[in-house]
Amino acid sequence: MKLEDIRKIAILGAGAMGHGIAQVCAMAGYNVVMRDIKKEFVDNGVAKIKESLDFLVGKNKLAASEREEILTKRLTTTIDTRAAVGDAQLVIEAVPEILDLKRSLFKEVSAMCPENAILATNTSTMSITDIAGAVALPGRMVGLHFFNPVTKMKLVEIIKGEQTEAGVLSVMTEVVRKIKKEPVTVLKDSPGFIVNRINAPNQALMNAILEEGKIRPDEIDTTMRRMGIPMAPFELADFVGLDVYCHTLEYYAEKLSPDYKPGKVVRKLIADGKLGMKTGQGIYKWVGDKAQIDMSKPSDDITAKEFVAIQLNEAVKVFKEGIASSTQEIDQAVVHGMRAFAGPFALCAGMTAEQMTQPLLKLQDRFKLNILAPEPELRDGSFKKLSKK
Ligand SMILES: NC(=O)c1ccc[n+]([C@@H]2O[C@H](COP(=O)([O-])OP(=O)(O)OC[C@H]3O[C@@H](n4cnc5c(N)ncnc54)[C@H](O)[C@@H]3O)[C@@H](O)[C@H]2O)c1
Repeated sequence: MKLEDIRKIAILGAGAMGHGIAQVCAMAGYNVVMRDIKKEFVDNGVAKIKESLDFLVGKNKLAASEREEILTKRLTTTIDTRAAVGDAQLVIEAVPEILDLKRSLFKEVSAMCPENAILATNTSTMSITDIAGAVALPGRMVGLHFFNPVTKMKLVEIIKGEQTEAGVLSVMTEVVRKIKKEPVTVLKDSPGFIVNRINAPNQALMNAILEEGKIRPDEIDTTMRRMGIPMAPFELADFVGLDVYCHTLEYYAEKLSPDYKPGKVVRKLIADGKLGMKTGQGIYKWVGDKAQIDMSKPSDDITAKEFVAIQLNEAVKVFKEGIASSTQEIDQAVVHGMRAFAGPFALCAGMTAEQMTQPLLKLQDRFKLNILAPEPELRDGSFKKLSKK
């Protein structure tokens, strides 16, 4: 399959991610069909796309004629799987994060679509190889991990499953560039891939901070916001949904370390129906899409320096485990996947070994989190010399 062979893209799922993926593909000129299980769900997805296109037209970022072309010609919808995938060259799945659902869907879809069609999953945590086990030709299955909100976030991680063919990876790289996103190849199908993995220990730390109850989330988030991070960590957990945050921690606890186990505080919030933005209350109260954060006082206990040291430590593990090809690729993924102004290797290039290891040792001891133990490359300062592309 070559870039020019891909003309029709089927998107399975019209939810938070599916409708955004459909929009960026249609804006790049592709014929897109969006499929969901009920008409009201696809209609809802189309309504969100319209809202977004109208906004762009209003800002003179999109011609009105282009909006018309997208909505009347390029974007279609269906609730029939065969109609969606029967003549598609690329299928992108964005259905809920349930392994059995994804596997049974791909089994069905792979029997309906052309034999050489590429099958992509937008899973944010699951193993591409496990999902690919459900299809007859696992070589054409790949991870295509978009970030939320899709229209704003530049990064797409292209994840190689154990059997993904090299040609599939290269054509996906071209497609991702064509839809004006930044591709980063994930060479090893490992939990959290690159960006979410680098953030994983910070999520475990947030969980531990909530359990300890000494520092208010507002203080941490104020510190991070003042550093220029568009969405601070506790705010992000609420935005994504505490149920999703908890589910992710459980997955990491199973696959990476028991240190990730979600604590009582987050479980109680979930049991009380306080799931974050979608229920109007989580760690924060939400008014519309704005978390009500008390920005009056930054944290003087745990500061941005600690969060960056944790990121660097995990980024070193990602590099050593062969998940990314270079430290530059890792930095690029963090910049585009988190809208950070620099990745951990660039950010810490001027730091000493001691400046990096001291905060980690202090936090490891305070919160009893062994995942924060400094890697040898942080202890001896050689993180600055890890091989580059
Ligand atoms: N939300 C995020 O921040 C985010 C970020 C990156 C990746 N992801 C991943 O993207 C995927 C989708 O997440 P989401 O947040 O868009 O979920 P969502 O719940 O908003 O949307 C999922 C949609 O899939 C539909 N669906 C269910 N079964 C289907 C089927 N058999 N065929 C077609 N549609 C079906 C549902 O009706 C729903 O509309 C998940 O794997 C998630 O982990 C989510």
